[in-house]
Amino acid sequence: MKIKTEEITKTDILTEVLNGLSKSPKMLPSKLFYDKKGSKLFDEICELEEYYPTRTEIQIMQNNIIEMGELLGEGTMLIELGSGNSQKIKLLLDHIPGLAGYIPVDISSEHLISSSKILKEEYPHISIFPLVADYTKYFELPLIDKPYDHRAVYFPGSTIGNFTINEAKEFLNRIADIVGENGGLIIGVDLKKDKQILEAAYNDKKGITAAFNLNILNHINDELHSNFNINNFKHFAFFNEEISRIEMHLICETEHVVNIGQSSFIFNKDEHIITEYSYKYTLEDFKNIASDRFDVKRVWIDDYKLFSVQYLKVKD
Ligand code: AVI
Repeated sequence: MKIKTEEITKTDILTEVLNGLSKSPKMLPSKLFYDKKGSKLFDEICELEEYYPTRTEIQIMQNNIIEMGELLGEGTMLIELGSGNSQKIKLLLDHIPGLAGYIPVDISSEHLISSSKILKEEYPHISIFPLVADYTKYFELPLIDKPYDHRAVYFPGSTIGNFTINEAKEFLNRIADIVGENGGLIIGVDLKKDKQILEAAYNDKKGITAAFNLNILNHINDELHSNFNINNFKHFAFFNEEISRIEMHLICETEHVVNIGQSSFIFNKDEHIITEYSYKYTLEDFKNIASDRFDVKRVWIDDYKLFSVQYLKVKD
């Protein structure tokens, strides 16, 4: 099993962090949540009582997997963006008739290598072509030495909600380019719902989401030798109803200076850093966002209308 790596350099991270902190309000790229500790905390979030998306999406997949596999169809080369949850991908690998191969794409080489090895042992008959890349940017697929009929992307978890509307449109257009003619997309999309349910999901009682949010600063310290002190900040998350998004912020509790590389940043008391948006869509809104290049062919939702899994096809 050959692993293709598109290097993500410290310079890329430094540039993104400095750009974000030069904005007003200050921002940090949410992909920096996911170092080893952050990924572990995220796994814990997925198990929380208040965090409904993961279990609801898995339940939707389990209930409809035969239809999903049939819609993707014979000869699919399946590309998973952000290969995280093996439970979900295994459902697809088990149910796509005549699956041609699987390309997991992940920013973390460590995670990708270990999860691909485990999958290869369980699915020795499936060709796996792991690709280390930041899928939020342009990337090229690895060389595939195997015939297949068409490509399909699997993008679960409602990670699409972590892009702004314009970024989401651009990203979906890029997915259309990646899958090409006759290509498909299975995507998890979290739905707009009651503010209380949403705010509870991002303010869990155990404080795991708070630890996840604060950990972004420790990760930046590790990568860039900066001197953030997480004790100077507190977690804050709320549902911005007008824009239909959860916003995660870190609020500075005391005025201080942080040094990163050659730069210094003043943080004022009560100043906010925005660390993440998580957009919640109506079915209609999401259809419009995808409509440049995709037709929504099938939508599966749970009984409580919390979450959707959707099958889209590239327009002819
Ligand atoms: C990865 N992403 C879809 C999660 C979300 O719900 O937006 C990240 C997350 N942030 C806080 N809790 C979970």
